[in-house]
Amino acid sequence: MTTLITGGTGFIGSFLARYLIETTNEELILYDYIINEKRIRDLKDNPRVKVIQGDLSSRPELNLCFESHQTIENIFHFGSLMPPFTESKTENAFQVNIQGTFNILECARIFGSSKVFYSSSAAIYSPGDDLPITEKTYREPLTMYGVGKVCSEVMGTFYHRRKNINFTTLRLPALIGPGRTGAGMTIYANNIIQYPAQGLKGVCNVEPEITIPILYIKDVTKLLGSFLERESISEQAYNLDGFWISAKELADLVQQEIPEAVIEYEPDVELSFLLKFLSMMEGDDTLIRKDLEFKPEFPPKKMVKDFILEVRRNPYYQV
Ligand SMILES: NC(=O)c1ccc[n+]([C@@H]2O[C@H](COP(=O)([O-])OP(=O)(O)OC[C@H]3O[C@@H](n4cnc5c(N)ncnc54)[C@H](O)[C@@H]3O)[C@@H](O)[C@H]2O)c1
Repeated sequence: MTTLITGGTGFIGSFLARYLIETTNEELILYDYIINEKRIRDLKDNPRVKVIQGDLSSRPELNLCFESHQTIENIFHFGSLMPPFTESKTENAFQVNIQGTFNILECARIFGSSKVFYSSSAAIYSPGDDLPITEKTYREPLTMYGVGKVCSEVMGTFYHRRKNINFTTLRLPALIGPGRTGAGMTIYANNIIQYPAQGLKGVCNVEPEITIPILYIKDVTKLLGSFLERESISEQAYNLDGFWISAKELADLVQQEIPEAVIEYEPDVELSFLLKFLSMMEGDDTLIRKDLEFKPEFPPKKMVKDFILEVRRNPYYQV
């Protein structure tokens, strides 16, 4: 069967692609606006992988992608404009993150895809909400990024109920892992491991005490991969919590593995302010642990160790 991954050469997309190549017989289409050649250098010559350059906000480009392939059975929709660009370029954020999701859902309906998986975020909630946050907590995002997530979730649920598409979304905490680059509010957590693993200085652009929930990419790709095996999933949306850890505690774990690591703090005031909100939002992910038997295998110490090993072993994980 064929699986389309939008944002397929991004961090989560490429990691999932590698996992699906190893564990399934799926044919993969990696659809992306900016192709990250370096990150997919081990994947792009694989006969089961096709890389397509295209813009999610353009229906003609997406139509062409669906028309030129046999039925695309499954879609992992990860393509997204990320913060801080979503906040400074709200119109682009609308076109890519809201119009883009609509385009994917319409193509899924017209061209007969059966499953759409969407990567939402804890950014759909705000700190005034009752704690702990569950799937039933009112969604009241503080950012345009979060607005895009809420709109996409609501459209996906509508297509699930009325248009015969199996739609599932995961509301993700910060994911970190080898090779994550670029934007996103939580990239600091990646940088303090990635750069020292490459023998470079790690710069942390939030205050050391900022504490947020974090999961390792390997735990999440395994969970995403398991979606393809399931006939049906009972809920449309699941919260995922993570291991709560401060920037300083993470940096200390890196220093235990790499005693010569240099990690400096250069806090960005606005980012630290936004993340302080995230750090108040205790989450409850009982539902996914029960329904989908999710049990992360990488607590922080094991995660840092594995992350460093992977970066040193694989050139495609180096930035
Ligand atoms: N990484 C995290 O911690 C995290 C947490 C919560 C949610 N998410 C969500 O997961 C998804 C993937 O995140 P990621 O960490 O892999 O980010 P990423 O930036 O590595 O990947 C996003 C990809 O989307 C592509 N893209 C952007 N605009 C596009 C367009 N117009 N058309 C087609 N592709 C386009 C980019 O080129 C990029 O490859 C995003 O939706 C993100 O919001 C990520």
